Amino acid sequence: MRTLRAMASALVAVATSAAGAAVITLASAPPAAALDNGLALTPQMGFNNWNATHCGADFNEAMVKGIADLFVSSGLKDAGYQYVNLDDCWAEKNRDAAGDYVPNKTRFPNGIKAVADYVHSKGLKFGIYTSAGTMTCAQTMPGSLDHEAQDAKTFASWGVDYLKYDNCNNNGVDAVKRYTAMRDALKASGRPILLSMCEWGENKPWLWAKDVGNSWRTTGDISDSYTSMLGIVHQNMALAQYAGRGHWNDPDMLEVGNGGMTDAEYRSHFSLWAEMAAPLLIGSDLRKASPETMKILTNKDVIAVDQDKLGVQGAPISTEGGRDVFAKPLANGDRAVALFNETDSPQRVTTSASAVGMPAAPAYRVRDLWTHTDRETAGTLTATVPAHGTVMLRVARDPRWAVYPPAVDAGTEIPVVYPGARPFVEPGKSITVTTSANNSGRLPALLVRNELAASDGWNVQATSKQSKVLVGSNQRFATTWNVQVPADAKPGSYDLTATSTYEPDETVSQSTIQVDVLNASPPPSGTSYASDVPWLRSDNGWGPVEKDTSNGEQPAGDGHPITINGTVYKKGLGVHAPSTVEYYTAKKCTAFSADVGVDDEKTAKGSVTFEVWADGTKVADSGLLTTADAAEHLTADVTGSTFLRLIVTDGGNGNDSDHSDWADARLTCT
Ligand code: GLA
Repeated sequence: MRTLRAMASALVAVATSAAGAAVITLASAPPAAALDNGLALTPQMGFNNWNATHCGADFNEAMVKGIADLFVSSGLKDAGYQYVNLDDCWAEKNRDAAGDYVPNKTRFPNGIKAVADYVHSKGLKFGIYTSAGTMTCAQTMPGSLDHEAQDAKTFASWGVDYLKYDNCNNNGVDAVKRYTAMRDALKASGRPILLSMCEWGENKPWLWAKDVGNSWRTTGDISDSYTSMLGIVHQNMALAQYAGRGHWNDPDMLEVGNGGMTDAEYRSHFSLWAEMAAPLLIGSDLRKASPETMKILTNKDVIAVDQDKLGVQGAPISTEGGRDVFAKPLANGDRAVALFNETDSPQRVTTSASAVGMPAAPAYRVRDLWTHTDRETAGTLTATVPAHGTVMLRVARDPRWAVYPPAVDAGTEIPVVYPGARPFVEPGKSITVTTSANNSGRLPALLVRNELAASDGWNVQATSKQSKVLVGSNQRFATTWNVQVPADAKPGSYDLTATSTYEPDETVSQSTIQVDVLNASPPPSGTSYASDVPWLRSDNGWGPVEKDTSNGEQPAGDGHPITINGTVYKKGLGVHAPSTVEYYTAKKCTAFSADVGVDDEKTAKGSVTFEVWADGTKVADSGLLTTADAAEHLTADVTGSTFLRLIVTDGGNGNDSDHSDWADARLTCT
């Protein structure tokens, strides 16, 4: 990821006990006093410019004021967002003669206090950023290491309410020491200032930082892709036991609205952050936000889950096959349940009221927090969740459950090449789809009717009965359909929407899934460089996948010649873990080969694995490779596959510096 980070000292010695559990020994004494600042009793909510602007010119006084205005005018303040925060690059490179920070003259010509005053005048709070090092991460301004007291005083004098404290350029000084010094300096400043620790989980802060900061980052930086968001969920979800009122796990700021994910993926991102009681820091430029972005960010039902006073982080109760069920106990005895589908195909995700910890009852009220509708269930909690989507439910004991319609899930089943694969069709061909009304209610669903809608020009025919007078409690009523795709359908994603209507009151249940129309033309015959064959999709942990260069950094086209341990390659793919590049091989290809390794553009770190998947089968695996390793030659038999996936994992230690090459990658097809 970032070359400039001077990595933290070996704060902790990690030993492994006989039972295999990680045991942490603190190299320095645990923090002496408690944090005890009374802040962040629920996870902090606000805005931070970093994900939207980095250190770009857009980051300036006008932006910050504009965001504060929008907080008030667009209902964000009402929804609970409070802090308007600056990230890196707000100061001049050098301190003044007195050793004080100098606000960046171009971005903040009126100083920081003027901005803080403006934010306060809107009834909001103001946050700032620096690093527990000699310089910040972007290296454009000083850090606060050894200047803690002076800087905390400056911040307090400006009216700062929140400090994000980063980890770059820390000279190897013990992290507990560095973060505790700032905690004490903030306390001594006399102003209550929330301390948001940002050491990327390097020193396992969940084990010691409860008494130091109000939140601590648990992972490396998020980027605006589904793969990045998913990787962070996997890391943060294992840490639920360490969060609580006043001290939260922080899986990084929101990317909602930045454009790199679909709205369904952004809803998952927002749902899961709320379910995991994460700080909700908006990271998109709200001045350009779409109505859908605003709708996601202001969903009060979901925000209430995040902000619940019990302060428990929701935890996974099952994760089988990429179908994740999270449960979060809430202060009034309800449970917030997230049904998250990690995979590329629609999935029925199912749990029950008792599995999520509800006491026994004849039936429950279950509220869908995205459609804002209430239903009754006899106990089953289920939904057909679209690829990468999340259904958020709030389950309650309610003696009046019978006034709500029974919960009916409109299910869709569609053939896929392997479990979790994206459903696809080819122009001019047809597929068979089954839709169903699944009644989880205690009461019967009456006059049930299944419908299936497709895009214009697609021919959809029911091949079995579409309606039924009564679908009883825990019964299913299915309809099969023949879906004919027009011969001239253009490549792209198309919606199929299954609807089940039922009485009382024409109650509707609906699920929409996406089907890809693939370009039916086969991959070129003979041996081709992978970088010359159009891929179906690419996901990358940092910036876009590059063709014939290394990954570079976030912008497109900023890579270098692909180089592994001194060997330079003309052709190949430059990626960054976690990454997936997928090709449509149409059962026409036989072999794939590449020289794989960590690119020389990162010298210090980087450890990854390269995997080749033919449909649902792993056909090659490099094992762990680091910057120290020479390229490894991988070959794979991909005969008979419809899809080829080139996957790079982070090697299990986070994705810092994981710049990885599929050098000389070739695909042979008939
Ligand atoms: C680090 C942090 C980011 C951001 C940048 C600023 O990478 O983790 O959240 O603050 O520094 O340079």
